[in-house]
Amino acid sequence: MNKHAVAFPPPAQAALERFPIVFSDAVDYAGPLGAAWAPGRVNLIGEHTDYNDGFVLPIAVDRVTAFAGRTRSDGIVRLWSAYFQEYAQFLLEGLPASFEQQRAKLPEWARYALGVVAELTRKGVKLAGFDAVIDGDVPLGGGMSSSAALEVATAQACALFSEGRFTIAAEDATLTPMQVAAICQRAEQIASGVQCGILDQAASCLGRPGQAILLDCRSLEYRYLPFDAPTISLMVIDTGVRRELAASAYNERRRQCEEATTMLREIILQHEPANEAARSISALRDITQEQFDRYGADLPEVLRRRAGYVIAEDGRVLQTVKLLETNAFEEIGELLWQSHAGLRDEYQVSSVELDTLVEIAGQVPGVLGARMLGGGFGGCTINLVRDESVEALRQAVEQQYPARTGRQASIDICRAAGGPGSAWASQA
Ligand code: GLA
Repeated sequence: MNKHAVAFPPPAQAALERFPIVFSDAVDYAGPLGAAWAPGRVNLIGEHTDYNDGFVLPIAVDRVTAFAGRTRSDGIVRLWSAYFQEYAQFLLEGLPASFEQQRAKLPEWARYALGVVAELTRKGVKLAGFDAVIDGDVPLGGGMSSSAALEVATAQACALFSEGRFTIAAEDATLTPMQVAAICQRAEQIASGVQCGILDQAASCLGRPGQAILLDCRSLEYRYLPFDAPTISLMVIDTGVRRELAASAYNERRRQCEEATTMLREIILQHEPANEAARSISALRDITQEQFDRYGADLPEVLRRRAGYVIAEDGRVLQTVKLLETNAFEEIGELLWQSHAGLRDEYQVSSVELDTLVEIAGQVPGVLGARMLGGGFGGCTINLVRDESVEALRQAVEQQYPARTGRQASIDICRAAGGPGSAWASQA
């Protein structure tokens, strides 16, 4: 925790200013005004690999969700969402047992915060109540993981407002950033019903300026890779379509992957009964490209497509890591196109709007690669673009996208930024 930060991210600053206006009643606050925040993410490559125990390569971005508030002495958490212009309130007492009952009474956005508080309580962490304004500049439901940013910011806010009763840090703290990521992942699952992997929450917890994060979603080991190409921009283009992470389709993909794993293990063992290693296959991560090429044809078609995509995508992540070491962005771009084709044709989680944006990008010289981002069905594409082509891509999207889809796209340039933070704004 940074107690002496000089600069608050803009949404934290906005929330700090709004706090005395929104919470103007005479609550007996137990502490000073402070802010906590956490970033959204983009994922360079490695989509739908996290829950297959595979690899991902995300980047935390310079967009955050922020809380500004004060500790209460009565175990109540009261929140005001600047985006929804809405209050929500829940009680620490009774959690985690009272989670379902309290969840039912809350607006959707507040359920993520309740989920984090419930999961922290389940871990035995001692929390204090607080009042807070929530503000942010991570586009909502747009594929940059606004929900993960909200969850991780909630954990940071809990640490700040519990005033030392629990801490988050790499060493000598109650929880490490990776433990917070796991708690927030669980919170997302119980709040939304989506059986998500750990990609979004880990990326938010671990962000570092100018770095991408290679995360092994099985061991949860990670390392940083420089992502700071001076002449390349990371453009995020929003389709304007908000199909919330279609929970049922996502959970269905997850089940299909599990089914494909079990079947492939059986098929391999039938052909190679002496293959001891094959007995411990427990996720698509354990199946090599070579094994898939040899035996994948024995799977039912849908499972073959799903597994084929995931196994190839894991390979693309590891290739990208090698290519990043030499800043070989042309080749990395090539892998992004391939990733999109796999998500569209084999994993089948793209949409007409996402495909249109990727097609438009494909016609602009200097766009090295593009693909859909995150869970799919709506949200954004990520585009790796030479700086001198940024304007050309912007124009192509503005001219062609509305005509082809009847919608407006919005365009953002993102930078690899730092992880969560918190600081006091006043002494009283
Ligand atoms: C969503 C989930 C993540 C991950 C991505 C797809 O963002 O929350 O866990 O599975 O989809 O890569």
